[in-house]
Amino acid sequence: MKFDFFNESTPPLIGVDISTSAVKMVELSTAGKGSYRLEGYSIAAIPKDAIVDGNVSGLEQVSDAVKLAWKLLGTREKRTALALPSAAVITKKVLMSAGLREIDMESQVEAEANQYIPFPLEEVNIDFQIIGPAPNNVDEVEVLIAAARKEKIEDRVAAAEDAGLKVTVMDVDTYATEAAYSLIANQLPNAGKDQTVMIVDVGAVMMHINVLHNNVSIYTREQAFGGGQLTQEIQRRFGLSMEEAEIAKRKGGLPDSYESEVLQPFMQSLSTEVARALQFFTSSTQYNRVDHMVLAGGCAAIPAIEVMVQDRTQVNTIVANPFQSMSLGSRVKQQQVAIDAPALIIACGLAMRGVD
Ligand SMILES: Nc1ncnc2c1ncn2[C@@H]1O[C@H](COP(=O)(O)OP(=O)(O)OP(=O)(O)O)[C@@H](O)[C@H]1O
Ligand SMILES: [Mg+2]
Repeated sequence: MKFDFFNESTPPLIGVDISTSAVKMVELSTAGKGSYRLEGYSIAAIPKDAIVDGNVSGLEQVSDAVKLAWKLLGTREKRTALALPSAAVITKKVLMSAGLREIDMESQVEAEANQYIPFPLEEVNIDFQIIGPAPNNVDEVEVLIAAARKEKIEDRVAAAEDAGLKVTVMDVDTYATEAAYSLIANQLPNAGKDQTVMIVDVGAVMMHINVLHNNVSIYTREQAFGGGQLTQEIQRRFGLSMEEAEIAKRKGGLPDSYESEVLQPFMQSLSTEVARALQFFTSSTQYNRVDHMVLAGGCAAIPAIEVMVQDRTQVNTIVANPFQSMSLGSRVKQQQVAIDAPALIIACGLAMRGVD
């Protein structure tokens, strides 16, 4: 297994997002030059507390969910790309002389890492990539170093391997989101060029914010907010188990009061959180506006949520669908794709690592 955030693609592989609420898988193939085909995807729920703060705490439960997701995916491919949560990865940009040999660069990366990583280096996996020439000095290059604790990587690899899969790539979730965003950018005016775009991924427990300018990430942040709050309120109000509440949320069948007394207030809180994220961003950076919002994560599947967020923030808002211009394989249920798509952006970005 390679710990490589940066290496270019390897042969076909499945994108596997192991997140708080579910294991989500996406399988892509090429459909001509620069375009993809969605061969299949699957979502398998992870029991509560098996993933806590992005860490695997119930290995068997997680690997059972991986097994089920793979079965539902209906593929023969066993190679996968996984992602670490960005909170588990330390990244830093440094400058180095441009002419260094690979081996000298490696030892300099280690020396740099030694200074800012708060763990013994033998407990850490390190990867690096030359980003490009240094802004003010032609003799230097800018290098991005990424490091993560080995145990965090090993836990995720174990969950996949115990389910009979093979891990070929270990990425970072925010990088995967950015990769998938490249497909969504095409749906924005001028393909996102010169635009400031805020991707807001609202999952089960966390709101993950990633702002890109000119299609390059310039800011990330997390706020504790997610669809779990809505699930809990449904459980409390209507006396349901968590599983029943999750099903009711997606399929309906709740009493009439649900819409006005539970769902609407949740949508308002969500919009307020997005507005707060926007305000944090504009007040803590040189940017004073955002041109577009892209809503992702399971909560973006709530009907008309983009309308409420747009009203609240006064920023043009769309729901993420990285599959919008893809052809669909026979295993994909057409009507369901647009509903599930926003929750699949990380898995989609990971799957893109396996397609040239
Ligand atoms: N169709 C839907 N309507 C309403 N809510 C939905 C729908 N589909 C999923 N959700 C909710 O979205 C949440 C899961 O979203 P997602 O899969 O993005 O979370 P996650 O990635 O597991 O969590 P996190 O990012 O916090 O680790 C759950 O709270 C779920 O109930
Ligand atoms: Mg998520």
